[in-house]
Amino acid sequence: MNYDRPVHDIPTLEPLAIGASKNDRYIALRRYVQQLVDGEPDWLANLANVAAAINDRVPGLNWVGFYLMRGSELVLGPFQGRPACVRIAVGRGVCGTAAASQVSQVVPDVTAFPGHIACDARSRSEIVIPIVVDGRTVGVLDLDSDRLANFDIEDRRALETIVNDLEPRIDWSAATRV
Ligand code: SME
Repeated sequence: MNYDRPVHDIPTLEPLAIGASKNDRYIALRRYVQQLVDGEPDWLANLANVAAAINDRVPGLNWVGFYLMRGSELVLGPFQGRPACVRIAVGRGVCGTAAASQVSQVVPDVTAFPGHIACDARSRSEIVIPIVVDGRTVGVLDLDSDRLANFDIEDRRALETIVNDLEPRIDWSAATRV
């Protein structure tokens, strides 16, 4: 771990060229997220910055954040958006389904998802990526949009890659401590 980074050294996010594709945007976001967390051991600061970076770079979001496994349930972690449900049982809603199944959930219309938990009435579509370390779910990354079908397979693959990058870089035992 490199602890030598100057206190105010926040990496800059390169401006995107006009007409940049979704793939271009995600490549830049992935690089940016790596720069934000590399050399910084504080899980809370890192997850907060990652939520902010995603909020800044993925179009159409009304909410993005982390839920962390605390004991047997998911508890709200760093996020951007309106205040949200604090505790979600594993297996409940989109987040709990992703946590239980360890499979990403892409929901084009939340009203069609049985058991969807409506934290923000504006949300119309949602994607949830499970965060799995050594076979154990340690949390989920949840993105909500006020647009129908805002997320597709490209978002899923790109966000899974970003979560994969995060898995070895975050102190999950501290992040999931009860
Ligand atoms: N809609 C989620 C709950 C979390 S909020 O969207 C922030 C779900 O059904 O799990």
